[in-house]
Amino acid sequence: MSDAYRDASLPLAQRVDDLLGRMTLAEKVGQLNQVPDRPPWSDRIEQLARDGQVGSRLLASSAYAGSDPQNLSSVEALNAVQRVAVEQSRLGIPLIHGRDVIHGFRTITPIPLAQAASWDAALVEAANRDAAREATAAGVHWTFAPMVDIARDGRWGRIAEGYGEDPHLAGVMAAAAVRGFQGPNLADGQSLLACAKHYVGYGAAEGGRDYNATEISDTTLRNVYIPPFASAVAAGCGSVMSGFHTIGGEPTSGSHYLLTELLKGELGFGGFVVSDWGSVWQLMDQGLAADRREAAELGFTAGVDMDMCSEVYLEHLVAAVEAGRVSRERLDDAVRRILHAKFALGLFEHPYTDTGRAAKVILAPEHRARARQLAAESIVLLKNRDGVLPLAADLKHIALVGPLAETTGSLLGCWAPGGRAEDVVSLRQGLQAATDAEIFCNTDQADVMINLARKSDLVVLALGEHSWRSGENQCIQTLALPEGQEPLIEALARQGKPLVVVICAGRPIACPLAERLADAVLFAWHGGVEAGHALADVLTGKTSPAGRLPVSVPSSVGQVPIHYNRLRFGRWQNPKDGRYIDGPTEPLYPFGFGLSYTSFAYDDLRVSPERAGLGQTVEVSVQLTNTGGREGTELVQLYVRDCVAQIVRPERELKAFARVTLGPGQSRRVSFPLGFEQLSYSGRDGQRRLDAGEFLVWVGPDSRATLQGRFEIVQCKGGAALTLRPSL
Ligand code: GLC
Repeated sequence: MSDAYRDASLPLAQRVDDLLGRMTLAEKVGQLNQVPDRPPWSDRIEQLARDGQVGSRLLASSAYAGSDPQNLSSVEALNAVQRVAVEQSRLGIPLIHGRDVIHGFRTITPIPLAQAASWDAALVEAANRDAAREATAAGVHWTFAPMVDIARDGRWGRIAEGYGEDPHLAGVMAAAAVRGFQGPNLADGQSLLACAKHYVGYGAAEGGRDYNATEISDTTLRNVYIPPFASAVAAGCGSVMSGFHTIGGEPTSGSHYLLTELLKGELGFGGFVVSDWGSVWQLMDQGLAADRREAAELGFTAGVDMDMCSEVYLEHLVAAVEAGRVSRERLDDAVRRILHAKFALGLFEHPYTDTGRAAKVILAPEHRARARQLAAESIVLLKNRDGVLPLAADLKHIALVGPLAETTGSLLGCWAPGGRAEDVVSLRQGLQAATDAEIFCNTDQADVMINLARKSDLVVLALGEHSWRSGENQCIQTLALPEGQEPLIEALARQGKPLVVVICAGRPIACPLAERLADAVLFAWHGGVEAGHALADVLTGKTSPAGRLPVSVPSSVGQVPIHYNRLRFGRWQNPKDGRYIDGPTEPLYPFGFGLSYTSFAYDDLRVSPERAGLGQTVEVSVQLTNTGGREGTELVQLYVRDCVAQIVRPERELKAFARVTLGPGQSRRVSFPLGFEQLSYSGRDGQRRLDAGEFLVWVGPDSRATLQGRFEIVQCKGGAALTLRPSL
């Protein structure tokens, strides 16, 4: 009789329990141990696997996989060690291979911040599906994505990896990414277990300095930073990664409240928690553990199920359980969660990777096509004076100049460990392929650029930062363009030719000079392998720009932290109150902003009913009309203000949006339902609540929308409209 856990016809829970019942204490702890793909672990990996002392391999040769060149283990090499685990260990439990597949595997797509700028959840899902197909062909089972940290500070290099400042947009993107990675059938051999990270509040790091402390109140945590994780969990995300940082003096990788009570309890998260690289061991650095043993016991008891790359669990948990300092129930719970993921992935049925699949899927044409579409949709047109764009078809000479005009590798973005510079279409290649005009190019000599501008009909100035100036541990003190780039704007603007400034970066670069002097300004982010084609598609009008900002763009770093959904302000009556006296208070470009090549009108906002009891849905609708001469896609955005609440609520919050494409003159009514989910918030006691009172709504093209409506949540018959529901 074969062992029940090997019987794929049995329910997963039964297989998990059968296997768990057969495991020794040491084998259980072995499943909690993840090791990196580098010496000395890679030298010992076969013995660890044979002895059942490792549960997972992290396919990264350094803790900075986002910016250090990585040497991928071959599929054959991965299969060889997997064979040892499956065929030579006592119970044959397969290893789960984790890797950072953040925005594409080999077909590198735009950075997640750019993906959020597309506001196109379906496309983000499809692009992450492509990434899963490629990564699984290379032996990867689990990705450490999506990163869903809300970020309001562009100095923080990791703002590039997340979906921006807004909980609703980030939640929509998080769910789309999870669906893309995990697919409809996690066990189909082409899907990746997803991992929402870095739980929770990492983006609020003090001073925008990575890994630093945060101070987040519980209501802000629950109303701003938790929601994208809640969306990922609701989408079935199989794992969550705890962070390096602290909240109010408590390390997120050592917090029983955050990991067990909130995530696994209130949010009902049934997957497993993996630490960030060494973040359990670092509890010692944070002063909460005197030694590795205490760090292991603290992190594990708090709720971190798997230890990423510090081996403190392997060293100390057996003894801790035997001594009664860690409960056997807690150990079984952690092992059960990890085994469940391995069964759900089908690893017991297909532990080895088909070595022939990669050639068929890596850089597949349809993957590149999707990457191109997503990169084009992520581009945000911020200025277009006198319709200088799209480029006139009869242009004869274009000067494409600036430090990023021909670059390739630096367009890959900050987390592209599997990407290659030779795969990237540069801006020059893209523009040349898209126009018959003669392209004059120079990347590093200002006087040459000026001469090229003088003999051209139009200048495209490609500025920005290298991928490796963004991402993990790449935090900066200003948000200006890198040194030497602003003088290029001034010099070229003096040549009297139409000037198009393209900024390629992993953060909201503050460049009021470009806004003032250029005729057109575009944020093209780090667009991945198809960056050049995508930019050319937008510049030539093949694709009408539809990108909208997922973050507020400040006019200077002095405005940071800056975000549109700030809490209501007590002294708004006097316009001078609470404002800077030495510069603008409003952002250079607001959240949700972006232009297209046409124009749209919003009319006839309707709210029904205007008085709603609990349980009713309020419908808000607006008439949208394309009033321009070209087809265009508009991001219709709905913002809400809860006017009477138990805690101070934001001036306005995005609660819904719709991507609407209309031809010239076409008109459509766009409707949004608002129910408890959209209108409730987490109150002082952490419970979701909806209070009776007035709500204001705005519908428009960005977070400054002015077309306003109102409705009221009224007392229900026999009771208040207030309801207490399980929080989140
Ligand atoms: C890094 C990052 C995390 C990544 C992990 C594995 O330190 O913080 O986002 O997934 O290590 O590479």
